[in-house]
Amino acid sequence: MSSIRDFMGDAHRACDELFAAAEEAVAKNDWARARDAFERFRHATLHHFRMEEDVLFPAFETRTGMSMGPTQVMRGEHVQMRDLMEQMAAAANAGDANAYLGHAETLNMLMQQHNMKEENVLYPMTDQALAGEREDVLQAMQGLPD
Ligand SMILES: [Fe+2]
Ligand SMILES: [Fe+2]
Repeated sequence: MSSIRDFMGDAHRACDELFAAAEEAVAKNDWARARDAFERFRHATLHHFRMEEDVLFPAFETRTGMSMGPTQVMRGEHVQMRDLMEQMAAAANAGDANAYLGHAETLNMLMQQHNMKEENVLYPMTDQALAGEREDVLQAMQGLPD
């Protein structure tokens, strides 16, 4: 049975790879590949956010009673990242490489800091707080519709 930290950390890495593939295609002006890679990145990232917002965070909040703590900060950063992905989508549709790469840089900075906070602080807290129900939580996250 993997830890929440390992399972969710692997998901961060998978999203990073899709992000890099999209950026590389944009840099080469290969827009068909860029749009495809970006949509896969966005889809995987939004799916990951739902695992957190719909399953992991509520389970943690219920168990610990901490609903205004780190999970609220993470939810707020998800809002910012969703907004940046919207702007990247618009830039990709317009074929505007400068705009895309600018928003991508902002997103990547935010995303790396966000992921570090989750992997170093929040996920270990969830592993500890949810130790008795970890398997159920992992299954519920994996069972979310794509
Ligand atoms: Fe997150
Ligand atoms: Fe995450």
